[in-house]
Amino acid sequence: MKRPLPRILAASLALIGSIAFAGEVEVLHWWTSGGEAKAAQALKASLQAKGHSWKDFAVAGGGGDSAMTVLKSRVVSGNAPAAAQIKGPSLQDWAKEGVLASIDDVAKAERWDELLPKTVAEQMKYRGSYIAAPVNVHRINWLWANPEVFKRAKIQPPTSWDEFFVAAEALKKAGILPLAHGGQNWQDLTLFETVAIGLGGPEFYTKALVQLDPATLASPTMEKVLSTYKRIKPYTDKNAPGRDWNLATAMVIKGEAAMQIMGDWAKGEFLAAGKQPGKDFLCLPSPGSAKSFSYNIDSFAMFKLKNEANARAQKELAAAIMSPAFQETFNLAKGSIPVRSGMKLDKFDDCAKASATDFAAAAKGGTLLPSLAHGMAVPSAAEGAIKDVISNFWNSDKMNSADAMKRLVSAAKTR
Ligand code: BGC
Repeated sequence: MKRPLPRILAASLALIGSIAFAGEVEVLHWWTSGGEAKAAQALKASLQAKGHSWKDFAVAGGGGDSAMTVLKSRVVSGNAPAAAQIKGPSLQDWAKEGVLASIDDVAKAERWDELLPKTVAEQMKYRGSYIAAPVNVHRINWLWANPEVFKRAKIQPPTSWDEFFVAAEALKKAGILPLAHGGQNWQDLTLFETVAIGLGGPEFYTKALVQLDPATLASPTMEKVLSTYKRIKPYTDKNAPGRDWNLATAMVIKGEAAMQIMGDWAKGEFLAAGKQPGKDFLCLPSPGSAKSFSYNIDSFAMFKLKNEANARAQKELAAAIMSPAFQETFNLAKGSIPVRSGMKLDKFDDCAKASATDFAAAAKGGTLLPSLAHGMAVPSAAEGAIKDVISNFWNSDKMNSADAMKRLVSAAKTR
């Protein structure tokens, strides 16, 4: 008869086993603001809980442009991290370079095909194999408002762009800065995107800014979108240029500004500052966009690794990312909603619940829109060129809408 191992010996063997397989996972991300850092901590903790170590590769800069530049140079020099925050069509570009690893075994074992909306699953795959793990669904077309400030000015938050300008005038008269804006090109583009959706509607947005149809990029509707976008500028402050998005959120938190238009990572900042939705801050669809949902899905692409223990740890990270526990903890801090279907939302606030309902309704109604400003809609070269045109237009006193449209048409051809 086999005698059971003494308990202490069994425990030591288990420990030796886990040490032998313990790996290190270097993770590139740009989650450095208060709310983002809390969310990144959840990712780190879920990896560490499996006995692996986390090597932080954080590159500050909202929207991730700096992170992508650093990533390129690391990969070119043959020193890729294990996992990197890469999204949308860029996943395909990286996969084509042959540097990403298949995590199909994890995805199959964990039934990802059944747990992810089809369009999301397709984005995570290259030639039928999963090469990335998705963490969340962020909504871009949000208006964040300070209710106290609106009360002071005796007006309601706007639901259309016409109402926006009426409200902005009233706020200005009451001595309140209407819109907190961070003048960095990706934030300029985020604001532009919401005007395009709210004024032009989902079909216009899709034709112009997803399909990059030249006639729509230079249409009367685009002219209206551009001129309305430019009309917003006088309602932002002179210190906006260069301001980080989270500092703009802080202005709304402190009541120094009435509103911000930003994706729901902004909610992570309100929450990290101890603010309550519905009471201390409001989340409303950006003007005119109630029926649309412009989405931004964060995901981690997995790079090919030589070290076996690290590759194992990388796969465990991928599995952890899609686990219900991680999807809940992470998204509660991040301001987004889980990407894994069938999750209970009891612990989530009304903003997240509204986001989930609107996501489902938009998916049904064909108004689920990939965010241009956040790498979801077009290849990164075209996105970068369009971002430059829009930001130059926002900042220039000389460029008119006709010039901007001409430039948009040629920027859209960038490959
Ligand atoms: C990312 C978010 C991030 C935001 C600001 C977006 O592109 O998807 O996860 O919080 O940029 O940094």
